[in-house]
Amino acid sequence: MPADPLREASRRRTFAIISHPDAGKTTLTEKFLLYAGALVGEAGAVKARTGRRAATSDWMEMEQKRGISISSTALQFPYREHVFNLLDTPGHRDFSEDTYRVLAAVDAVVMVLDAAKGIEPQTLKLFEVCRARSLPVITFLNKYDRPGRDPLELLDEIEAQIGLRPTPATWPVGISGDFRGVIDRRTGGFTRFTRTARGGAIAPEEDVEADRAAAEEGAAWERATDETGLLDAIGADVDLPSFLAGESTPVFVGSALTNFGVRHVLDAMVDLAPAPGPRLDTAGEGRPLGADCAAFVFKVQANMDRSHRDRIAFVRICSGTFERGMVLTCERTGRPFATKYASTVFGAERSTVDLAYPGDIVGLVNASDLHLGDSLYAETPVRFPPIPRFAPEVFASARPLDTGTTKQFRRGLAQLDEEGVVQVLRDPDTGDSAPILAAVGQLQFDVFADRLALEFNSPIEVLSAPYEAIRLTDPTSAPRLRAIGGIRVLERGDGELVALFESRYRLQRLENDEAGLRLDPIVAG
Ligand code: G4P
Repeated sequence: MPADPLREASRRRTFAIISHPDAGKTTLTEKFLLYAGALVGEAGAVKARTGRRAATSDWMEMEQKRGISISSTALQFPYREHVFNLLDTPGHRDFSEDTYRVLAAVDAVVMVLDAAKGIEPQTLKLFEVCRARSLPVITFLNKYDRPGRDPLELLDEIEAQIGLRPTPATWPVGISGDFRGVIDRRTGGFTRFTRTARGGAIAPEEDVEADRAAAEEGAAWERATDETGLLDAIGADVDLPSFLAGESTPVFVGSALTNFGVRHVLDAMVDLAPAPGPRLDTAGEGRPLGADCAAFVFKVQANMDRSHRDRIAFVRICSGTFERGMVLTCERTGRPFATKYASTVFGAERSTVDLAYPGDIVGLVNASDLHLGDSLYAETPVRFPPIPRFAPEVFASARPLDTGTTKQFRRGLAQLDEEGVVQVLRDPDTGDSAPILAAVGQLQFDVFADRLALEFNSPIEVLSAPYEAIRLTDPTSAPRLRAIGGIRVLERGDGELVALFESRYRLQRLENDEAGLRLDPIVAG
């Protein structure tokens, strides 16, 4: 029996964890599941995904060899009468375009920082996308069980580098390396933690009154209360409106490995993070949560399972109730899409989903007609804004090694372009024969080459191309640009023209000297 979509939406929390590789995203994900009871006694199952994934897809072999996570996963689990949708984001520094897309489908983000390292380059880049989307960010200062940096110094760094005002919700008692527990600044209470072997079970917690804590924790307590006194004096208190506006970030301190502070972050997701709200369409109108079912595609993945050649479109439900079997209309094509096969993906395993509500993620199987960014609706048409495309930073040329596989090469090119594995830029004159590939990171080229060879039987050669900058242009400016050496004008999969520049300097000169040319930066947002 379908439930009331408004009530179900209010119970949902849809979020992602972002971090620099190795800061502890996977460990925190495991611990969330442990605390939610989704993996009782089995923390480590997310990490153990390499074993489970073995059967899933050949191209993931590369992931396993490199020990990185390329594909995103959506996990759903209950916590405190709520339903959490946790969208996993790939952790590798290079492979960020997919991560950016995931951020278009969430309502909040947990940013994990290694307390010994602070803000690292990847965190900064991801954070810029969060800011562009005004996503509320909860910060978790991780690895506090071992020697790290002074937490006050880390707060300064968050403020200075990402311009987000840190408002500590919990504060450590005991210096890193001798971490005893946290003060909850909102209640003044002390939570003392006890380690369990490798954090395999929920960390025993004891709530201790301030007076007793002062007597038992001695100098560690004194130091912590001195620091929280300082925070009180500067008014660095959790502030819901500025958190929801993406201007301040509640900060939690802990250690994912030993489970210290994990529950506080989960509670913050319920108590502070927003439930799904009306999603804005391209006209800026909110789609009411109670309207009929609507969703948008934020990720497309083909051939996840080589034994069934298929293509899954991951959609986020934005309004109404999704019932498996219902027919949705694809706004772009006007064609019906029967949702007979719909699944959630938990780790590498799929299970059928019969009902879903705003905020939920559904994998639509057999989605050969659906593209990244497509809007779907049951009755009332809606068009949600396209998934932002990102300014590519690296470029390469690709050609089949065996000229007998040109057909397969073309098919693969079209498929992987649609999936957004790389952006394929074509010369309007020569078409597919010598495309330029554009990506945010080099690894996207490796995935592209691997998948062409494995799934389309078309081994290719990828050679780095000498471009330093890319701009959006138009048919009026194109002839002038084509006449200049070191510039190429190519067509993107969505029909937009882009200009590639071998020299940034030349681009700057043109921007200064020929104001009439259209040379717009590609901006994420
Ligand atoms: P990632 O997904 O962000 O890349 O990070 P991941 O969770 O894989 O963690 C990276 C490493 O940091 C792992 O160690 C993990 O055990 C460790 N780690 C995570 N959280 C904490 C913490 O709170 N305290 C400490 N001390 N370490 C933490 P590894 O040696 O690479 O792997 P493993 O052998 O422990 O599995």
